[in-house]
Amino acid sequence: MHIAIVGASGAVGQELLRTLQQRDFPVDTLSLFGSSRSAGSQYSFRGNTVTVKELRDNDDFRGVDIAFTSAGAGTSRAFAETITRHGALMIDNSSAFRMDADVPLVVPEVNGDDALDAPRRIIGNPNCTTIQMVVALKPIHDISPIRRVHVATYQAASGAGQAAMDELWAQYGALSRGEQPKVEKFSAQLAGNVIPHIDVFTDNDYTKEEMKMFHETRKIMHSDNIRVSATCVRVPVMRAHSEAIWVETESPVSVQQAREAFAAAPGIVLMDDPAARVYPMPLDLAHHDPVYVGRLRADLACDNALTFWTVSDQIRKGAALNAVQIAEHILQAKG
Ligand SMILES: NC(=O)c1ccc[n+]([C@@H]2O[C@H](COP(=O)([O-])OP(=O)(O)OC[C@H]3O[C@@H](n4cnc5c(N)ncnc54)[C@H](OP(=O)(O)O)[C@@H]3O)[C@@H](O)[C@H]2O)c1
Repeated sequence: MHIAIVGASGAVGQELLRTLQQRDFPVDTLSLFGSSRSAGSQYSFRGNTVTVKELRDNDDFRGVDIAFTSAGAGTSRAFAETITRHGALMIDNSSAFRMDADVPLVVPEVNGDDALDAPRRIIGNPNCTTIQMVVALKPIHDISPIRRVHVATYQAASGAGQAAMDELWAQYGALSRGEQPKVEKFSAQLAGNVIPHIDVFTDNDYTKEEMKMFHETRKIMHSDNIRVSATCVRVPVMRAHSEAIWVETESPVSVQQAREAFAAAPGIVLMDDPAARVYPMPLDLAHHDPVYVGRLRADLACDNALTFWTVSDQIRKGAALNAVQIAEHILQAKG
């Protein structure tokens, strides 16, 4: 297998390198790509040193089997043809093609087999907030179809990339020295604050990030009957997103039924013993694979509804791990 990573120096690219190694993914040849900024940088992979090449419109992808791309939507759009024209499968972390009808959008625990039909040789890796939510919605939806989801997200700084993490650290440092923190990556100071604004605002006053949760959930779960109303919030956490989720189903699902379904579901760890102060928190769960679910209870404001809390590392399950799991699903299906 010849594997390529585009955006190797970034937060997701670095996690892809770790994930491929940790999961023993079959890699005979690894090619790394970036812009002119990171071209020439070297990374170690299974004891070998690999040098980043500049991504250009040339034949560098000849012979590549799978290209994991995480270099932003503009780069994915500009280079999709270059990457796929010799037959490589592009598993794309950006939002560039996610809603295209001929591009499957895949979370293996929910719709893994959609990955087996990718006519453009492009597979979309969903938005990180959507991935952790649909993993948790699936076991409920299997008991009774979901009608409505309300969700408030608590998104870590690293969701906006390596430079955003650096900015949050720098802001904490500036505050501790009594200096004015610099604000570049976010719309306001994040240290000591929460910002109810991720991505740009759209005509209906939701943000693009919030509308991704609406549209992507329907596509992944194959249901136009699910309505999702999201408020996406950036919080001064370094890594791992949290979500407070309210789910309304067609017929009642008891807390006990949901508890059993979560406990049995792939990719989920139930962490729900509030009396013993056991509930998922991002500080404890960064760098872990699963979607953690806790604070499960009946919704007091709505019949046929449950509410719960999820935490998952958005660079792992929300990006790199999900992409590698898609590739694993395809390899397994092909035998
Ligand atoms: N961070 C997350 O939690 C997360 C989760 C899900 C999806 N994603 C998506 O994954 C993608 C990468 O995010 P990230 O957080 O890893 O961002 P990041 O830390 O800012 O890294 C961006 C990467 O893209 C590369 N790049 C930028 N422009 C390029 C170009 N013209 N040609 C080649 N490479 C280029 C950069 O290389 P240089 O160093 O050379 O500039 C860098 O390796 C984005 O589309 C993002 O929306 C991120």
